[in-house]
Amino acid sequence: MIELPPELDALEVLVVVDNETDTLSSVAEGIPQIPEAVHLAMRRPPVRVHEGHACHVLFDQLCCACHGLSVLLSARRGVETHRVLFDVGPYPHVWLENAGHLDIDLASIEALFLSHWHFDHSGGFPQVVAAIAAARRAAGHAAPLVVDLHPDRPDQRGLMAANGSLMLLPAEPDFADIAAAGGAIVKAADAHLLGGGFFYGSGAIPRVTAYETGLAGHHSFRDGVLEADPLIMDERFLAARVRGRGVSVFSACSHAGIVNACLGAQDAFPDTPIDLVLGGYHLAGRIMEMRIEDTVRDLGQRVRPRIVAPGHCTGWRAKAALAQAFAPAHYAPSVVGSLYRLAAPA
Ligand SMILES: [Fe+2]
Repeated sequence: MIELPPELDALEVLVVVDNETDTLSSVAEGIPQIPEAVHLAMRRPPVRVHEGHACHVLFDQLCCACHGLSVLLSARRGVETHRVLFDVGPYPHVWLENAGHLDIDLASIEALFLSHWHFDHSGGFPQVVAAIAAARRAAGHAAPLVVDLHPDRPDQRGLMAANGSLMLLPAEPDFADIAAAGGAIVKAADAHLLGGGFFYGSGAIPRVTAYETGLAGHHSFRDGVLEADPLIMDERFLAARVRGRGVSVFSACSHAGIVNACLGAQDAFPDTPIDLVLGGYHLAGRIMEMRIEDTVRDLGQRVRPRIVAPGHCTGWRAKAALAQAFAPAHYAPSVVGSLYRLAAPA
């Protein structure tokens, strides 16, 4: 077991890329999620005042949604803060435009943690790395951007259909291009701390439940050899804990199973309640949808999170089932531009 990260005073979670945009929906009173338009209006001054009414123009400033995930995590303990980016999503232009709309200070990002090698999480490499590294140099930061990757990089991945055809994702970025863009690569297959020690990056996620058996049909190319690879063992979750709230789990695609990821976090952080569970629960598609009932049951009975925040590849059927089980008191889905402010009680 490694040393655990310290308890934080506050953790801010900003969704930079997600499949869905929904800036109008409300969440239950007490859930610390702020819709995109609300925190945008809080950050930007009104364009004019008309007869005493502050006038905001927001709807040309909203983020764009696309199939993928990227989340910016800002952790504070006392006066010390550390910022880690969890994945970059598929398209560098989407990430960079959304980061502009969200007023993200690129230079403040210390580390970039990749959940797993899949284009909808890694496709923004190496351009996003180059932009952050350049911003850090321009701001005079001595430390380069750390890019935290699983060492077992496949060349390309995809799904094999019943008729034998392969639906491939684009090729994965390679280590040399990421390093050339200014990223200081750290390869980690085991659990470790990052972001000033405030964040916990998992190792391989133990497969515990009977029904979370990986992604059916998934294959990987390595050195020209194609192999069935349903378990995607390079997947890792990121976690951080806030004093008085518990440990939050960021699971980008949950190919390991969202329940397995949360049980892994419970193992790593004994006697600590689970706070926010944010990311893709990957319960979309006919085969995966058969796991919805078991997943919702085990999240409720074994994990008991404070906030269920499904996004990305969760799928509408699973989101509906999760909302049925956890809304309103424990449900605040992840959409692009969402901001969660998890603060220790005073
Ligand atoms: Fe994904």
